[in-house]
Amino acid sequence: MRRRGVYVMLTLCGVLTAALTTFLVISLTGGQGADASDAQTVTVQLSNGQGEVLGNYGSTAWTDQTFMQFRGIPFAEPPTEEMRFQPPVARIPWTGTLNALNFGQRCPVITNLDVLLSDAELEDCLNLSVYTKNLSASQPVMVYIYGGGFYNGSAEDHPPNYILEKDVVLVVPQYRVGALGWLSTYTEELPGNAPIADILMALEWVQLHINRFGGDPQTVTIFGQSAGAGVASSLLLSPRTGDHLFKRAIVQSGSILASWAINKDPRGQSRRICDRLGCSSCEQQEQLVKCLQKAKVQDILIATTSESFSPIVGDLQGILPQQPSELLKNYRRQIPLLTGFTQHDGSFVLASYYDALAAKVSNVSLLSVRQFSQGINDMVNDTSGLTDNILNRMLFKPYMLNSNDHNSAVPSYFDLTSSIFMKSPVITLATRIYTLQPSTPVYVYSFDYEGQYTRFGYEFGNSHYPFNGGVHHSNDNIYLFSTHPLEGQDIQMSQKMVETWTSFAIDGTPNDLSPLTSASGPYNQLNLEITKGEDLLETLTAAIDDPDNGRLQREDMEF
Ligand SMILES: *[C@@H]1O[C@H](CO)[C@@H](O)[C@H](O)[C@H]1NC(C)=O
Ligand SMILES: *[C@@H]1O[C@H](CO)[C@@H](O)[C@H](O)[C@H]1NC(C)=O
Ligand SMILES: *[C@@H]1O[C@H](CO)[C@@H](O)[C@H](O)[C@H]1NC(C)=O
Ligand SMILES: *[C@@H]1O[C@H](CO)[C@@H](O)[C@H](O)[C@H]1NC(C)=O
Ligand SMILES: *[C@@H]1O[C@H](CO)[C@@H](O)[C@H](O)[C@H]1NC(C)=O
Repeated sequence: MRRRGVYVMLTLCGVLTAALTTFLVISLTGGQGADASDAQTVTVQLSNGQGEVLGNYGSTAWTDQTFMQFRGIPFAEPPTEEMRFQPPVARIPWTGTLNALNFGQRCPVITNLDVLLSDAELEDCLNLSVYTKNLSASQPVMVYIYGGGFYNGSAEDHPPNYILEKDVVLVVPQYRVGALGWLSTYTEELPGNAPIADILMALEWVQLHINRFGGDPQTVTIFGQSAGAGVASSLLLSPRTGDHLFKRAIVQSGSILASWAINKDPRGQSRRICDRLGCSSCEQQEQLVKCLQKAKVQDILIATTSESFSPIVGDLQGILPQQPSELLKNYRRQIPLLTGFTQHDGSFVLASYYDALAAKVSNVSLLSVRQFSQGINDMVNDTSGLTDNILNRMLFKPYMLNSNDHNSAVPSYFDLTSSIFMKSPVITLATRIYTLQPSTPVYVYSFDYEGQYTRFGYEFGNSHYPFNGGVHHSNDNIYLFSTHPLEGQDIQMSQKMVETWTSFAIDGTPNDLSPLTSASGPYNQLNLEITKGEDLLETLTAAIDDPDNGRLQREDMEF
């Protein structure tokens, strides 16, 4: 259903929507958390008379250690009615013991909408989950910011059973997604960037309460992937982020510098959605606001199936007062950073683009390689053509561009999409921060492991593509969150990833990784063994330089 909306048009915007749609698809998983039916329970008294929560127990994946889980602790009042679109308001204290045995409602997504619930119930999604092994300890805290294309994602999709093997406390807050979170008219009623404010409030909650769960509020690491990387990196740049909130950051696959991470026309988007909701006088600000505030959750979701959402610049909360690239110039934080991408992080954009194109033209292979790749370049806005020309020169053999030899061009398409959408925004964030703060370590990785599972075509299947997914977007998370039944070497890889991520959270030094010593490198290739590459920019041509890149094409399928 969603896909059809995406197919509607092959404009630049349509293609981008398609790309973002797939974000969602691959950034999420079906949860396989520990069984909530466990009879034993545990209670924790929150600080400041906030109230008491009831949790239960789970066990870790490899050594069967027991941990406590508190799922669905509300940290904000439900953002519903006049509070819809508004910055969150801290949850009013409760009396008695609040049952946190089940995950809270996920923030409304069209595919997961329980139509039996009222809007007030559906929008009551600002809950967080806490996982811990020792309530009286003072362990490092990891706060995960989920991905999902800014319109999907939940705590439930991120089971803790690998990460809790180590002595850390894991917190997974939910934040608003889609129109109900990101829509803005640049007015008081819809000030913009509410979901980033949700995460800021969750981080304040951690400061207040996490010691009751055995967490050390002075040692908080945020980590976010995909759209969550956009949010995590915006927290690094935002003047609204208090220095006390976190000590280290992990930014996986993307950053707020990416073209997809900023919504360039939120006003036009609100207007469009108002019209689509069938409201009248959408050109009048007051009517427009009223329409959006009063609309039913389900109607908003239906009206926005082909819209893409993301943070905005100039929100009234002062979260992103300027373009991220401008904020970056004044970056002063001394926060150790671990950031990187998967080896073929853009292949999901290629897949979405291929689908959108196939729906529009009867035979994609009749396009030249140049025409095909131009459509990808056009998703970013460089009016001088410099980007197009350099990428054409760097990634394609001259004969290819005017040919229809798409099969040979597959590795080039991989590098093209990966460079534009994921690797450049990560490399630029890392190297600029390194240059401004050379005494604060910045670690860059390329996740290169090819295991049994992939997120390629996670939701709609991948057998119709004339290429494989390679080391796909979100495949790194397969080894951090217990969503797949890993076996053999995959378990070793998972142990390596968990060791790397948690060692960084524990003391700021990820085991076996080398920090940048210049803006050129080195960087870390994450695999069963960790190896180093000298030149960070060589990751931009990872696929074309790979002697074994024939595996990226599907032998049995022509374009
Ligand atoms: C959102 O994520 C969930 C969990 O992975 C999935 O079941 C659902 O289909 C997704 N929704 C959309 C609109 O893709
Ligand atoms: C979030 O958690 C609190 C307590 O469990 C609950 O009041 C609220 O309804 C939750 N959200 C949902 C809809 O599960
Ligand atoms: C929990 O942490 C406390 C404080 O560090 C420690 O004394 C205690 O031994 C720990 N308990 C367990 C079961 O590890
Ligand atoms: C698409 O065009 C190519 C090149 O002309 C041709 O070989 C192929 O059979 C066509 N495929 C379809 C489905 O028409
Ligand atoms: C691309 O840039 C031009 C010139 O700055 C601008 O007019 C246009 O709106 C931009 N298009 C998009 C889709 O951002």
